[in-house]
Amino acid sequence: MKLPFAESWKIKMVEPIKKSTREERENWMREAHYNVFQLKSEQVYIDLITDSGTGAMSDRQWAAMMLGDESYAGATSFFHLQETIQRLTGFEYVIPTHQGRAAENVLFSYLVHEGNIIPGNSHFDTTKGHIEGRKATALDCTIDEAKDTQLEIPFKGNVDPLKLEQALQKYSDRIPFIIVTITNNTAGGQPVSMQNLREVRQLANKYNKPVLFDSARFAENAYFIKTREEGYSDKSIKAIVHEMFDLADGMTMSAKKDGIVNMGGFIATRLEDWYNGAKGFCVQFEGYLTYGGMNGRDMNALAVGLDENTEFENLESRIKQVQYLADKLDEYGIPYQRPAGGHAIFVDASKILTNVPKEEFPAQTLTIELFLEAGIRGCEIGYILADRDPVTRENRFGGLDMLRLAIPRRVYTDNHMNVVAVALKNVFDRREEIKRGVQISWEAPLMRHFTVKLERL
Ligand code: F0G
Repeated sequence: MKLPFAESWKIKMVEPIKKSTREERENWMREAHYNVFQLKSEQVYIDLITDSGTGAMSDRQWAAMMLGDESYAGATSFFHLQETIQRLTGFEYVIPTHQGRAAENVLFSYLVHEGNIIPGNSHFDTTKGHIEGRKATALDCTIDEAKDTQLEIPFKGNVDPLKLEQALQKYSDRIPFIIVTITNNTAGGQPVSMQNLREVRQLANKYNKPVLFDSARFAENAYFIKTREEGYSDKSIKAIVHEMFDLADGMTMSAKKDGIVNMGGFIATRLEDWYNGAKGFCVQFEGYLTYGGMNGRDMNALAVGLDENTEFENLESRIKQVQYLADKLDEYGIPYQRPAGGHAIFVDASKILTNVPKEEFPAQTLTIELFLEAGIRGCEIGYILADRDPVTRENRFGGLDMLRLAIPRRVYTDNHMNVVAVALKNVFDRREEIKRGVQISWEAPLMRHFTVKLERL
């Protein structure tokens, strides 16, 4: 008999978690203004708000932390990290930052100016924020298929080359670079194929534009290329990663995802011009160039994490757990963005809470219901996250409205996934009774979902 699949690690340290009563959760949610970001983590039983900075480090990463060099300038930890990034990506220049959005801030301070247009595939909200905050436009050129949650295609995160070329023709002189987010978080953790990355590169060359990868989940993207794209099944993840980055000029990285550290990020590039342009902003916003917002010990842990998480077995353990949860939802008939993504399941709220009008934010309503049901914290990736249109100030209802269940790396077991699935099924079974959602009582002008205050209707 063939042995069943099991994780490529065992557990050395555990952290207790606590259940609560429905009454407690009702009170906590009210106090949090129906915004799950305002909850205390101790009020949460199973926390799927994000896979960012919430992973469990390995014994090797913890060991590397003890060897951190905290020198202000020229720390060995920086060179360890730089060598790892150079080897994995081929990018010569490395600027550490405290997390992904800081990498965006530093690089975009040099590259993005008022009136610019940055085409790409579903810019993440901080990326969009850093573009729109500079009075520039984030132009979404994702394939239309990504909006059909029930359509099952292998690379639903792809850039639509036709849309991209139209943008390049129309706005050429206003485009400083093209951005490709791997995997495409907003579209559901969906991967981008090597073929698509190649097409983007060809268009970039034709119009003489550089290409930036937002690489938060680049290793998961490589896993999908290996397992889904023709010609890659025999290649190692590290070889695929290198081939992916050969098609870009630089990357911004939130190391809190595929670097499996709690905090950290970086910019890496082969363009001396980008490096020289960005480094002054690193010193201004983050810190000196050989730490840029990171401790030496954290740079050491990141170097080890990057190496570990570009190994097939580690990625397989992780992505199979996401698939496990997806299979459970299939069993219960709960619709989500198909196929399952790399880091999360995106539950299609608009197909579940059909009685809740879009103006009352169905995905946020579902997020609240799931927490009230069992203390499980997901997060809305939908109309609240989409912010208002910077010009008309209207809500943007054009995209998907989903409840994201992001799974931290190496943290929960499949038993926890069973609880999540049943809790969601219980909400799903009474979906017809849920007729009202929420309304906004206070919101920030940009990136409102972190701090928004809501009232239940
Ligand atoms: N790019 C992508 C694709 C992301 O998913 C994130 C963060 C960032 C950039 C910004 O990185 O948080 O280190 O500043 N995503 C988290 C999430 C917050 O929950 O998806 P950061």
